[in-house]
Amino acid sequence: MTFPTVTELRETEFPWTRERIYLNHASIGPIPQRTQRAIDAVEAKRRDPGRFDDPELMGILAQARAAVAGFLGADTSEIALAPNTSYGLNVAASVLPLRAGDTVLVSDGEFPANVYPWLLLQRRGVQVELVPRTVTGWPDEERLLERLLDPRVRAVAVSFVQFSTGYRVDLDRLGRACRGSGTFLVVDAIQGLGHCPLRVDRTPIDLLACGAQKWLLGPWGGGFLYVRRDLVTELAPAFAGWMAFRGTDDFSHLTDYDPTFRSDARRFEMVTLPYQDIAGMTASLGLLSEIGPDRVAEHQRGLRGLLEEAAARGRFAIVSPTDREHDSGIWCVRPPDAAAVFARLRAAGVVASLREGSIRLSPHAYNTDDEVARVVDVLEGR
Ligand SMILES: Cc1ncc(COP(=O)(O)O)c(C=O)c1O
Repeated sequence: MTFPTVTELRETEFPWTRERIYLNHASIGPIPQRTQRAIDAVEAKRRDPGRFDDPELMGILAQARAAVAGFLGADTSEIALAPNTSYGLNVAASVLPLRAGDTVLVSDGEFPANVYPWLLLQRRGVQVELVPRTVTGWPDEERLLERLLDPRVRAVAVSFVQFSTGYRVDLDRLGRACRGSGTFLVVDAIQGLGHCPLRVDRTPIDLLACGAQKWLLGPWGGGFLYVRRDLVTELAPAFAGWMAFRGTDDFSHLTDYDPTFRSDARRFEMVTLPYQDIAGMTASLGLLSEIGPDRVAEHQRGLRGLLEEAAARGRFAIVSPTDREHDSGIWCVRPPDAAAVFARLRAAGVVASLREGSIRLSPHAYNTDDEVARVVDVLEGR
């Protein structure tokens, strides 16, 4: 990594890295120093709100939509701000024109945030098909593609990266196939964005939901929904945020009601939003744009080399994909007694997660070879 270097990142943005080995971005991303400063600046004014004016607050939201759009390769008009991933997935499930007899495909093993909103549609007769995983436990992409041939299949909901295996779905291929069959593709991007490159101007996706609190290194409370331009005006929310309408452009005449939805993705927002968290998300996206998701991915691959060498010695297995088509920064490892080894990692100052029988390691741009070497020592019982 050239700019900022790993050392610069550790010193300027993540100074606590001197004390702890943090490999848990798939759970909670740390707040960079610049992001904390952005949050503090909004909160300082919040204590004395006379220092704010309405245009400034609206500006915080507008800057965030622009930052998300730039990061994703979207247009600002395609971005709705949201407090988390679930919000966007629930919007998707509630606004798509799905009727009784239609089928939504969901890969079995998805994180619950991308399952329950779809299961709720069963109340109106929509079928939800939990497509079984392959023997390795990864999403069965071939099966998903085959099922698109069934005309009852109207939507596919999938995570960019699976939370419990790190498997990265080939969204280019799935997106092209969905476009070809007229099937909506909804993506839960929270486990991928920030370390796996993705641009919606190259990859056909209809709706994409993401919280900022993991790989995007943003605060709790920041997130967004991307809605493909042509769909924005086709999809009318069945709920009403008060700023989703044209009638609220002029704050001095709010009771001149005009129930016409805005023509951009703000129609899907539920304002008031947490301004300090939204400003924090913008700052974190700025940092990630400087580093570049491609560089993050290559840095992680470099770090994983050490783990792969060690796994070849046979004391533990890597159960996540390690090929460039499907790998990610989530590495699930299985030593013989995962729970005991996990406790030893914790005692050695390594923060990771235990998920579905594996130890989940999830490094970011500022982790080092020395840190991974320390993890390997513990995994091999040293
Ligand atoms: C795939 C996936 N989706 C969603 C979430 C979280 O959703 P939300 O941002 O709504 O809390 C997680 C993890 O917490 C996740 O791993």
